[in-house]
Amino acid sequence: MEKRSKKAPYYITTPIYYPSANLHIGHTYCTVNSDALARYKRLTGHEVYFLTGADEHGQKIERKAQEAGVSPQTFVDNIVEGFYDLWRLMDISNDGFVRTTDDYHIACVQKVFKKLYEKGDIYKSSYKGMYCTQCEAFWTDTQLKESGGVCPDCGRPVEEVEEESYFLNVSKYAPRLIEYINENPDFIRPASRAKEMLNNFLLPGLEDLCVSRSTFKWGVPVDFDSKHVIYVWFDAVLNYLSKLGYLTDDDELYKKFWPASVHIVGKEIVRFHTIVWPIMLMALDLPLPKQVYGHGWLVLDGKKMGKSFGNVVDPVKLVERYGVDAIRYFLLSEFQFGVDGNFNNEILITRINSDLANDLGNLLSRTVAMIEKYFDGTVPESKAQLPEEDDAVIEAARTLHEKVENAMNAVRPDEALGEIFKLIRSCNKYIDVTAPWLLAKDESKRDRLGTVLYNLAECMRIVGVALQPFMTRTSPKIFEQLGIGDERLASFDSIAEFGGIEPGTKVQKGDALFPRIDIKKELEHLESLTPKQEAPKEETKEPEKAAEKPGEKDEKLPEISYDDFAKLDLRLARVVACEEVPKSKKLLKFTLDLGGEERTVLSGIKHWFNTDDLIGKTVVVVANLAPRTMAGIESHGMILCASDAGDVNLSPLTTMSAMQSGLKVR
Ligand code: ME8
Repeated sequence: MEKRSKKAPYYITTPIYYPSANLHIGHTYCTVNSDALARYKRLTGHEVYFLTGADEHGQKIERKAQEAGVSPQTFVDNIVEGFYDLWRLMDISNDGFVRTTDDYHIACVQKVFKKLYEKGDIYKSSYKGMYCTQCEAFWTDTQLKESGGVCPDCGRPVEEVEEESYFLNVSKYAPRLIEYINENPDFIRPASRAKEMLNNFLLPGLEDLCVSRSTFKWGVPVDFDSKHVIYVWFDAVLNYLSKLGYLTDDDELYKKFWPASVHIVGKEIVRFHTIVWPIMLMALDLPLPKQVYGHGWLVLDGKKMGKSFGNVVDPVKLVERYGVDAIRYFLLSEFQFGVDGNFNNEILITRINSDLANDLGNLLSRTVAMIEKYFDGTVPESKAQLPEEDDAVIEAARTLHEKVENAMNAVRPDEALGEIFKLIRSCNKYIDVTAPWLLAKDESKRDRLGTVLYNLAECMRIVGVALQPFMTRTSPKIFEQLGIGDERLASFDSIAEFGGIEPGTKVQKGDALFPRIDIKKELEHLESLTPKQEAPKEETKEPEKAAEKPGEKDEKLPEISYDDFAKLDLRLARVVACEEVPKSKKLLKFTLDLGGEERTVLSGIKHWFNTDDLIGKTVVVVANLAPRTMAGIESHGMILCASDAGDVNLSPLTTMSAMQSGLKVR
C-alpha cells in the first residue's frame, strides 16, 4: 500500500429515508451521489465514514402499518430489508446504517432531550397548529397563506392539531444561526438555498418548535413524561450523532468524525438540516456540520416523483436490465447536482448508447484492438511525439486529476464525470486525427504509431482511475484489458502525471463494456415499466396546487406568425461583469459582451444567483428590447431564463457547446 500524508477524516451522510414504501430512483439518486463522494474521498486518502439509514418513527408510519394490519415494527422491518438490498445492488459503500428503532439511537435521543430539558432549552407548553402528517411538519399561517392552505412542501392537506407539548427554544438561537450562515458561505450549498433559508424562514422570525407529540404512540418516548413521544424530526437528525456513539462510552467514531463534513439532503429538507438541526447542536454546545448540500429533485415529466403520485421509477428494474454502472453513470452525470432534473427514458437510453457504448466502450476496444493488431498486444514505447497532435490530449489527461478534485470538492459529481468524458471524447478525436490505421501502412511511421497507441493506453488508464468512484464495475474491467495489476497505477495520485503505464505491458481484449441498445425497442419496454401519471391516490385535494401557481405553466398564448417571431433579435452574449443594484432586492446588473458591443442589462434573478455565479457564461438575450430604466439604471435587453412553477428553480438559457458572443439565435 502506498503511504499518503494524513488527510482530514471525512464524514458524509445521506438523509435517513422513511420506510413507508420501497425506495425509488429519487432516493437512489441521492445515495449514489453520496456514495461517489465517499468513494472519491477514500481514493484520495481520507479516512471516510459514510452513513445512511432509515427514519422509522412517526404518525405516517404508524398509519401505514395500521392499514397493512401489522405492528409498526414489523412493517418497517420488512421495508428496511429492501433498503439493504437496494444499496447492495447499487454498490453503495456505506460504513454504517442507522435505524431509528435501534436501541443505541433511542437512548441517544432520550439523553439529548433530557439534557436540553434540564438546560431549559426545551420547555413544556400547549400548542395548536396546522400539521402535515406526510412531511411530519407544522406550518405557520403565513406559510399556509402563501401555499394556498396546503402543505408548502408536498401540497397535501394539513390538519389542525392541538396538544400539550414540549418546545425547543429556537428563537433563542436564531440570531446566532443567522450570523453563522452569513459568516460561513460554505455552510449551506448551493448558495441559493442559503438565501432561501434566510429570506423565507430565519429573517421573518422563527417560532419555537414543537418537539413532542401525545396524539400517537409510534416514536421515542420522553422518558420522564411517558404521555409524550419525541417529534420525529428531532429524533431523525440525531442519527448523525447516535451512530457515532455520541453520549456513550464507545464514542471513538464521534471523536474522530464529528463535525460531519457534509450532509447530503434533498432540497425539501434543507430547512430541517440548516435551521432545526444547527439549533439543536448549538443548544448542545456542539460544532455544526461543515456543510449541508441541498440537491435538486428528479422529476418525471415535470412532476415530483412519489408513490402517492403514481409515478415512481423503480431502480431495481433499471439495474436488472442495463447493469449497475449504466444506472450509476446516468444518475451521476445527467443532472446538475444542485438543481432539479427531468428523468426521461429516452435520455437514459441515448446516454447509455452514446456515452457508454460509443464513446467509452469503443475507445477502450479500439485502443486494445490496435495494440493487439499492430504491436502483438504489448503497449509500445512513446518515441515519436508530435506536439501539434499530442499536446492537447496529453494536457487534457494530465489536468483531469485537478478538474475532478475541484468538482468533487464542490460536491459536483456530475461535473467531475463531465470532465472525464471530455477526455474520452478528446481521445476519440485524437484517433480520427492521427488515423493509426494509415500510420500502420507505412513502416517509416512505426514509432509514431507506437506513440499514438501509448498515449491512448495511458489516457485509458487515467480514465479508468478517475472513474473508480463513479462506475464501480467498469474501472476494474478497463484495468484488466489494459493489463494493469499494480495497485499504484490505479491510485488517484498516479494520474497527476502523464506516463504511468509501462511500455511492455500486455493488454488483453475483453467483452464490450456496454453493448449497444436498440433504442426503439428498449423505449417500448421502458414505457411499459414507467407508470403513467395518475391522479393522486392518497389525497383529497390536488397536490400540484402548492407547486404550480394557477395559469403559470400551461397558459397558452395566441399563435404568432413567423414575421412576429422574426422581429425578435435574440443573441448570444457573454457575461463580463455582474454587480448588485443598490437598494434592489431582486435586480442584478450585468455587463454583457454581444460580440464586440458591450451592454448593460438588469435582470431580476438576484434571489437565485450571487454576483460571480454567471461570470464567463454564455446567455441568450433579447437584444432589440427597448431600453428601460429600473432603479435609476438603464437596462438595454433581457436575459432569457427558464423557471419552474413557483420559481423555485431558475436557469438562464445557454448553448450546449461554446459559441461566439453576438451570434444570432433563431
Ligand atoms: O425526508 N429526487 O425521508 P424521505 C431526488 N426521513 N431526490 C429524492 C427524490 C426525488 N424525486 N425523492 C426523494 C425524509 N429523494 C426524512 C429524512 S434525515 C434526518 C430525515 C431523496 O424518505 C432526497 O434526498 O422522504 C430527499 O431529501 C430524501 O430522499 C427524502 O427521503
